[in-house]
Formats: sequence, C-alpha cells, structure tokens
Amino acid sequence: MSDEELHIICTDRDGVVHTLPALEGWRIMEIIRDNGLSIKAECGGCLECATCHVYVDGDWVGKLIPKSDEEDEKLDEAFNVKRNSRLSCQILMRDDLNGLQVTLAPETD
Ligand code: FES
Repeated sequence: MSDEELHIICTDRDGVVHTLPALEGWRIMEIIRDNGLSIKAECGGCLECATCHVYVDGDWVGKLIPKSDEEDEKLDEAFNVKRNSRLSCQILMRDDLNGLQVTLAPETD
C-alpha cells in the first residue's frame, strides 16, 4: 500500500488489527463492512440501528466532525457506550482522516 492510498485501521472484536483501504466520501461503516469485517450496520447508514458502533482511538476523536444531536440520541440506545463512541455510518472518509483508528464495539445480541 503506498503512502498516498487512503486507509483506516480497524481493530476487530478479537483484537486483530486490520489496515483497510478507504475511499474519500465513503462512510467508515461501509469501509469496514465492504472489507469483510463483522459489523451489522442493519439500517445501512440511516441512523436507525446503532449497530455500526465503534470506538474512535486516541487523538482521532478530536479530528472528527462532532456528533449531531441525532447521532447522540441514537447512541443513547446502544450498549457499552464510551466517551469515544461513534456511529461509523456518520463519519465520512476524507484526506485528513487517513490512518483513522477505530475499534469495533461489542455485539449486543
Ligand atoms: Fe444503522 Fe449506522 S448503520 S445507525
């Protein structure tokens, strides 16, 4: 992978770290799902399910566009929510998020 290629780094529920190729404008949820990792994302990004829950690692939290009220409300319905919880369908990939690190939140059922 060249330095120019956008990517994110995603830790799965077994603690395995994956480097995933990313495209600008894609939802982080789509990048995780389309690279074959296990993320339910039941509503397909419509902000109706909270099954795309991830933890944003380290300093990356501050680089994201803050949560909307709607995302905040939907996260209230998720389990194991932490301060760095986000719904990955609400984060769009862009150049300055190259190398973004996230961890899949536990599945709840
Ligand atoms: Fe349903 Fe993100 S995929 S809220």
